[in-house]
Amino acid sequence: MYITRHQPPASPRGPDFDALVAEAGLWRGVATDMFGDDDVEAGAKALWAKSMRSEYRLTERFVARDGSGSPLGVGSLSTPRRENLHLAEMGIVVDPRFRRRGIGSALYDEMTAAARAHGRRTFQSFTWEPLEPAGERSLKGVQGDGALDPDGPSARFLLGRGFRLIQIETMSGLDVPSSEELDAAASAARAATPADYEVLTWRGATPDELLSDMALLHVAMSSDVPMGDADVEPAQVDPKRVLDGDNAFLAAGLDLLFAAVRHVPSGRLVAFTRLIREPDRAVAGQWETLVLRDHRGHGLGMLAKTHNHAVLPAVWPQVRRLITGNASENEHMLAINRRLGYRPIAASGWFELRTDA
Ligand SMILES: CC(C)(COP(=O)(O)OP(=O)(O)OC[C@H]1O[C@@H](n2cnc3c(N)ncnc32)[C@H](O)[C@@H]1OP(=O)(O)O)[C@@H](O)C(=O)NCCC(=O)NCCS
Repeated sequence: MYITRHQPPASPRGPDFDALVAEAGLWRGVATDMFGDDDVEAGAKALWAKSMRSEYRLTERFVARDGSGSPLGVGSLSTPRRENLHLAEMGIVVDPRFRRRGIGSALYDEMTAAARAHGRRTFQSFTWEPLEPAGERSLKGVQGDGALDPDGPSARFLLGRGFRLIQIETMSGLDVPSSEELDAAASAARAATPADYEVLTWRGATPDELLSDMALLHVAMSSDVPMGDADVEPAQVDPKRVLDGDNAFLAAGLDLLFAAVRHVPSGRLVAFTRLIREPDRAVAGQWETLVLRDHRGHGLGMLAKTHNHAVLPAVWPQVRRLITGNASENEHMLAINRRLGYRPIAASGWFELRTDA
């Protein structure tokens, strides 16, 4: 066994992109084995989009290979470049046929050495988990609800390396209702919202005149949502970074649908949500619903979500299911999702290891 190291691919061809295809395939296998389908997992194009802008975040991949070069396992090491310069996010996945042979450990050792060489001292990692812990014991995050089985392979792997569980995220799925139902939900949300808020929707890149407001919303998204006691600082987002982020998804072939809420008296955007879809998939992600603190309690999260959903049948008629994730302690957002018809389908553990190095 040997390990190759790959920089973010410049195009969807070549060994660097193959590493990402192998990674996406292995993670989709993990999801299918656990949840019966791979709706919660990203495909290679989405991974490519996320690793396209190395000036904000460098994502390298490490591939463990057998003697003939075939992948046995893949690790991704992601190091933020604008903020969180102490942090490295890592994900390791090993082909189930080759587990318990030290491949995950070998990838981990090489990746932590690379992370330290980048000057990183806090490591974070995510796992997929069943909604209810399978074993007899259960482990809770530092804050919030939800529990996972500390004796499952992924938790054992991370806990054995000194990681602790920060938070459990609940993933929920919505079978897309009829357009009549979606329109009715949007109208009801509109009727329940004060008149000095208006909804804007757009597809693709954020229009220039909204970039500054969207930058502020992204900063709030990185600091004003439940995060346990994770060793994370707010993102530094300017208008160019918002546009670069949108354009990376579009360049990789993904599509974006946004809904934002404007506070008419001030003219500022105060809430947003987005839907993201990989090409040819019948499932789309509902990401990042955020309402600025001063404007909470007026039904704006519901307003943004219902209006984005209502656009779906016309622009993405093939999409049959939406997937979203929330911190298990984010009761308010979970309640909104339940009212919209989302049902919990999976959980995800967020682990962290702080080192002195
Ligand atoms: C977690 C994972 C990467 C481990 O890969 P691996 O190649 O099997 O790991 P290793 O053989 O190096 O095992 C290292 C240690 O992890 C623990 N471990 C791994 N699998 C385990 C299992 N099924 N049961 C109990 N402990 C396990 C053990 O302590 C093991 O050491 P040991 O074999 O000496 O007892 C693999 O199970 C996997 O791909 N899981 C799905 C993806 C995932 O959730 N990754 C975790 C986020 S990084």
